[in-house]
Amino acid sequence: MANKYLLCNILFWLKVLIALLAAWIGLGYQMVLIKQRREYALAHPNEWVPPNPPGYVDIPLPGSWNSSLCAFEPVFDQTLGRTLARLEPPGADNFWFGFDLQWQVDSPKQVIERLGHQPAIFNTFINMNRTQFEKDTIDWMAQQASEVGAMLEITVIPELDVAEIPVETFYAFAMEMRRVNSYYGVPVFLRFMHEMNGNWLTAYGQQPIKFRNAFATMAQYVHSLTNMTAMVWSPNIGTGYPYAGGSPAPPEEIASLLDTNQNGQLDNGDDPYMPYYPGDQYVDWVGISLYNLAYNDNDPNKHQTRPITPDFIPNQIRGFTHNDTVHDYYGRFSIGLNKPFMMSETASFYAVYNSTKPGVTPGVVNQNPDTAHADEIAIKKSWWESILFNAIGRNNDASHDSNLWRNFKMAIWFEEVKVEQSFWSLEEWTERDYHITYDKDGVTKAFLEDVTANVLKFPVAWAGRWECECTGHLKKNDEYKP
Ligand SMILES: *[C@@H]1O[C@H](CO)[C@@H](O)[C@H](O)[C@H]1NC(C)=O
Ligand SMILES: *[C@@H]1O[C@H](CO)[C@@H](O)[C@H](O)[C@H]1NC(C)=O
Ligand SMILES: *[C@@H]1O[C@H](CO)[C@@H](O)[C@H](O)[C@H]1NC(C)=O
Ligand SMILES: *[C@@H]1O[C@H](CO)[C@@H](O)[C@H](O)[C@H]1NC(C)=O
Ligand SMILES: *[C@@H]1O[C@H](CO)[C@@H](O)[C@H](O)[C@H]1NC(C)=O
Repeated sequence: MANKYLLCNILFWLKVLIALLAAWIGLGYQMVLIKQRREYALAHPNEWVPPNPPGYVDIPLPGSWNSSLCAFEPVFDQTLGRTLARLEPPGADNFWFGFDLQWQVDSPKQVIERLGHQPAIFNTFINMNRTQFEKDTIDWMAQQASEVGAMLEITVIPELDVAEIPVETFYAFAMEMRRVNSYYGVPVFLRFMHEMNGNWLTAYGQQPIKFRNAFATMAQYVHSLTNMTAMVWSPNIGTGYPYAGGSPAPPEEIASLLDTNQNGQLDNGDDPYMPYYPGDQYVDWVGISLYNLAYNDNDPNKHQTRPITPDFIPNQIRGFTHNDTVHDYYGRFSIGLNKPFMMSETASFYAVYNSTKPGVTPGVVNQNPDTAHADEIAIKKSWWESILFNAIGRNNDASHDSNLWRNFKMAIWFEEVKVEQSFWSLEEWTERDYHITYDKDGVTKAFLEDVTANVLKFPVAWAGRWECECTGHLKKNDEYKP
């Protein structure tokens, strides 16, 4: 008996001793740090350290003693029945509607003035070459976003063969994401090399091996440097895959990876998505580019689109345009892989000519003006309504499975005017007006009625509803007023 107590006593005091020792080591270490800092400060008495801007978020350096403070940990969400992704709002009552801007002539502040509301997110397109990635532009946009409490979607387009971009450039880019997150406090959705299943972005399009390697490398750098940036894997809608105009795909990759139905060629029966999927650990959100290309049959020149039905978008993203399962993007990659889904670039345009709207050079347009001018409001409204009717399971009438759409949490409207080659004839150019925030008493009024009222059953979430923690999780901001 006595021996047992003796053993207990020894163990107890040993534990006390170890605890004391650990405490002293910790204190000693702190003292060394403070001493070093004091030494440095004394040696540089006049060094001015700029104050951090208001949104500043402290993200400890990787490998530092407190680096675990910002670790992204899986959090299970009861409503969704799965763990949340980086930058994913919990539950199923938050839908973000953001805008891609023509930044040369537009800004977040101007959008807010036109709308009278603060969108939660803005997109920008950024080019990357061997050594550069428009760092100053990113900084400037981050500052703009920070001032209005918004997040950024950054769509990065390598300009040359992506396999030739050194990893140093990727690393520097990831460091820049860390800076945007920390210094400006702006969370980022990094849509790296979008539309990689298309044949128009020749640096990486339809080149699955190069694409996947580069995406994985970037994701590893980003995740190790910051958890306030979510990696977005975002192909183009696969309805018309592999698209007109031939494929840049290397023949051996067609044979081994892209010809998924093994009929000897790359065609519309092949899986337009999976060959380009980089892997679960590298992808936080899944997105898609999808535009209204449903033409108005009354327009002989096929320049104008028509209003669509609410089922149009679900039919496209669930692949009901085909009698197969490989075209079911939403079912496979969002529901199947438990990832939140966004329409990362989307809109319906109105074809106009010689516009006087900002940023557009008049006269560079098609010489065959349409005779049938479909109603602009109807064309655009039908598109955002097809988004809102299905977003986060809003559409829970008997004919729809509301649970199915709960992962659909964000849409980013292409708020630009662009002169584009006609899809039907390369000889013809059409000036396409995608704007929905410029026409105060027309399109914009219709839009605001829908997003602030009950199309969703609750209003779209504007900026400020959430505070992003350095872990990549969002916390409700109690001060938010819709
Ligand atoms: C981590 O520690 C450093 C000093 O070593 C300190 O400046 C920083 O504020 C700490 N970060 C957090 C999030 O506590
Ligand atoms: C991000 O979270 C992961 C855990 O998922 C962690 O290993 C990593 O250190 C975190 N990054 C930073 C910069 O805190
Ligand atoms: C990369 O782009 C920058 C501008 O963004 C340009 O100044 C530079 O010359 C380019 N470098 C290469 C190698 O193309
Ligand atoms: C799908 O199959 C049905 C029945 O076989 C057929 O009527 C329909 O045209 C097919 N749709 C497509 C897009 O192939
Ligand atoms: C558009 O501009 C071109 C060139 O200035 C002109 O020839 C054409 O008539 C204009 N079209 C319309 C519809 O105003």
